[in-house]
Amino acid sequence: MELDGSVVIVTGASSGIGAATARLAAARGARVVLAARREGRIADLAADLPEALAIRTDMRDPAQVGRLVDAVLDRFGRVDVLVNNAGQGLHLPLEQIGLDDLRAITELNFYAPLLAMQAVIPSMRRQGGGAIVNVSSMTSRMVLPGAGGYAATKAALNMLSQVARRELAPDGIVVSTVYPAVTATEFHQSLAAGSRVGGGSWAVKPHPPEMVAEAIIGLIESGEEEVLLTQGWDGGAPAHRGAEGVQ
Ligand SMILES: NC(=O)c1ccc[n+]([C@@H]2O[C@H](COP(=O)([O-])OP(=O)(O)OC[C@H]3O[C@@H](n4cnc5c(N)ncnc54)[C@H](OP(=O)(O)O)[C@@H]3O)[C@@H](O)[C@H]2O)c1
Repeated sequence: MELDGSVVIVTGASSGIGAATARLAAARGARVVLAARREGRIADLAADLPEALAIRTDMRDPAQVGRLVDAVLDRFGRVDVLVNNAGQGLHLPLEQIGLDDLRAITELNFYAPLLAMQAVIPSMRRQGGGAIVNVSSMTSRMVLPGAGGYAATKAALNMLSQVARRELAPDGIVVSTVYPAVTATEFHQSLAAGSRVGGGSWAVKPHPPEMVAEAIIGLIESGEEEVLLTQGWDGGAPAHRGAEGVQ
């Protein structure tokens, strides 16, 4: 997909990977819609970007997600891209996971991307196509003690994303998944519970959020199925797959 002139919704755009993705999409000529709860942050970022719109949204609330998409359609008349990026971690050993915390991150990491996809699909279908990128995590592709609860929510998202890709291909809607590894954002300070995996120091060098943003924009442009931002064990080169899989 060509980003220039497109309308791109980025959830969790108030910091980290979402803010970097919004900036990069705007630099490629997209009209960006910033969704998150911290209104001041998305308003400030929107003021920096041409034709950007900031809409305070708690992505766990179906009514707010519906209002977000309605507002985008009112303003721009279309939605070309959805980046399901809002997410939160929970890093505790299994026996210490509280069900309320797990429920809260399941709502955000798994239900919210579903709600957002459901909200944009009708207009994308009417337009004849669109692109959706779901932001997962490398923790869902490895076995990492202390990250089981969080990784399980992202593993659920992976399956949803892969099935959505097959279901929506006939409508020209291309669904892709990005798997970030450790990235230098506020994520590690805003866990729902627990503390940063790895304790005081990282065994790996965190990726900058701009690197993940490049991968997300690359997926939108290429239509590839997935990109794994592998870290450390292969020299850090991203692994791509699946452009040939688009029907
Ligand atoms: N950083 C990493 O190491 C890493 C690794 C793998 C995957 N990821 C994934 O990357 C994505 C982005 O995370 P990040 O690293 O950029 O972390 P971040 O800086 O903490 O950003 C998280 C974003 O999610 C938003 N958010 C949280 N709860 C929300 C809600 N209820 N409704 C709407 N927005 C909400 C936050 O905005 P508000 O608080 O303003 O709502 C914030 O903009 C997440 O899905 C995360 O799981 C991160």
